[in-house]
Amino acid sequence: MNEMNLSKRLKRVADFLPKDAVFADIGSDHAYLPCYAILHQKAVKAIAGEITDGPLQSAKQQVHKLELDEQISVRKGNGLEVIEQGEVHAVTIAGMGGALIANILKDGKHKLTGDERLILQPNIHAYHIRLWLYQEGYELIDEVILEEDGKIYEIIIAEKGDRDKAYQGMSKEAGMLVGPYLAKKQNDVFRRKWMQELQHTEKIESQIKKAAPTDENKERQKELQAKIIILKEVLTVG
Ligand SMILES: C[S@@+](CC[C@H](N)C(=O)[O-])C[C@H]1O[C@@H](n2cnc3c(N)ncnc32)[C@H](O)[C@@H]1O
Repeated sequence: MNEMNLSKRLKRVADFLPKDAVFADIGSDHAYLPCYAILHQKAVKAIAGEITDGPLQSAKQQVHKLELDEQISVRKGNGLEVIEQGEVHAVTIAGMGGALIANILKDGKHKLTGDERLILQPNIHAYHIRLWLYQEGYELIDEVILEEDGKIYEIIIAEKGDRDKAYQGMSKEAGMLVGPYLAKKQNDVFRRKWMQELQHTEKIESQIKKAAPTDENKERQKELQAKIIILKEVLTVG
């Protein structure tokens, strides 16, 4: 993979950048996404933020090699601390777990004006992101689920707005778990992901049922049963 031949996953993230965007890519190993976005006129300026020295150096080298130093500023820092308030139109955070992405947003909230589009690509546990977005009054604009090299990824696009809009006609708990737009479309990848998750959850639940009835196990079993009910409803399986 490189800046010209980007992964399908990151290309889809770039597709959602607003026109002529200035954007920050947080956790920008190699700065592949910013380089691709600038070279393909999907953005006019970018900030590549990295917390770790190795990926930071790779990002600097990549930007320099492509002579994009004028358009891409590579900055070392934790999450959104690399941007000034009002500096960007969009923020991308890709290739991490949902809890980490939600924490980066939570810790860096004071750096957001609320006018930015957020394009977030969790590898797992997107629930944490949808919950944070809802609590902060963001509207889900769109969602994507895709498979690449045997792995399933989700992309969540959000802007400040009507936080309830996407969840109309479904329970919020279900929508936050599986994605309200994704649940309405139910493409093959979606059904495969959640069928597998349902089977996995049922297996664990039956193991816990056989284990000692401690308070902890009883609590865990309740959680798993609730998740099973949600998934069966979403997938409309008995
Ligand atoms: C798995 S890589 C993903 C890289 C790229 N965004 C992608 O989707 O392919 C995650 C990167 O995020 C960086 N990272 C993790 N936590 C971060 C934080 N709080 N602030 C900035 N960068 C972070 C890591 O150093 C690593 O380079």
